[in-house]
Amino acid sequence: MTSERKLDHVRINLEEDVGFKGLTTGLERYCFLHSALPELNLQEVDTHTTLFKKTLAAPLVISSMTGGAGSLEKINANLATAAQQAHIAMGVGSQRAAIVDPRSQYTFRVRDYAPDILLFANLGAVQLNYGFGVTECQRAVEMIAADCLILHLNPLQECVQPEGDTNWSNLLPKIEEICHKVGVPVIAKEVGWGLSFDVCHRLWEIGISGLDVAGSGGTSWSEVEAHRTTDERLRRLALTFREWGIPTADTLLMARQAAPELTLIASGGLRNGLEVAKAIALGAHAAAMAGPFLRHAVNSVEAVVEEIETLRQELRLAMFLSANPDLAHLRDTPALISIKVDHTDIFGEGC
Ligand code: FNR
Repeated sequence: MTSERKLDHVRINLEEDVGFKGLTTGLERYCFLHSALPELNLQEVDTHTTLFKKTLAAPLVISSMTGGAGSLEKINANLATAAQQAHIAMGVGSQRAAIVDPRSQYTFRVRDYAPDILLFANLGAVQLNYGFGVTECQRAVEMIAADCLILHLNPLQECVQPEGDTNWSNLLPKIEEICHKVGVPVIAKEVGWGLSFDVCHRLWEIGISGLDVAGSGGTSWSEVEAHRTTDERLRRLALTFREWGIPTADTLLMARQAAPELTLIASGGLRNGLEVAKAIALGAHAAAMAGPFLRHAVNSVEAVVEEIETLRQELRLAMFLSANPDLAHLRDTPALISIKVDHTDIFGEGC
């Protein structure tokens, strides 16, 4: 059942080590050239940005995670309240369960806590091969009064899940139809294995408005599914693919090159404001995080707000010390330097 799966996902993410074991985000291959004379006032370094017509105090997004089962309502409420207080964006987890069974819609009611934020609805793109179409996508958007719709692309996760949806044929024209008919901007998002140059380019060609690369190096969904399954063959399958994927730094560069006009969100293993700064210097307009916010959301709104403010302070300091007064300058900065690393250090042996 979908609601049990959602509870399992949250529990496993909180209790187990679900990070990649060898593969990293690739962001450690970059550093900023330190400026000993920034000629800026730290307090005036500006982290504000406008994304999909809404102003954010910092280029931060609480990544799509949850909803769909009773106890998950509180997590969404805490995340939404914090996003509203700190003026950042947020996505909800897949709304498929609430469309199939509207009784769980209340777990997604985040607008009550966050009337102003940039808010993303969420559905799996593969559902377009399993009976969902424009009507269901519109229902997901209306259910939470979202500004945009995220369609997530998670082929590996579906293939290592006991109840996974594995027919991924002929999806692109269906995604194209949603882009043209749903009435809000559509964002394509991975869940932790990255978007290649070719995939980004094809999505751009059919009218996607934004990309969330969700690269490798953070939460590993093969690892999560390996913890969840009781089927030994599926477990082995998941573990074989535990180091699969495109590191976040690499998928970001691919997306920027393949679709330079699109709004680009970086995610996958970002864990502090310095990494957010690197992601923006590599081409992102904003950075999203899932795992870290989840751990704070189970504690309190204050814990989530504190995390956001710390991330913002780290980002601001990175901008100050690399002499970038605002995010437009940071995105085009010449101060990000690539450090040469042995390729086998990045991808591990045998990949
Ligand atoms: C997720 N993620 C996710 N993504 C999505 O598009 N729809 C979803 O329903 C979910 N569900 C979900 C649940 C939980 C508990 C977590 C931790 C994550 C994936 C998430 O949005 C993100 O892309 C990845 O987790 C990578 O980011 P981090 O965790 O490395 O910052």
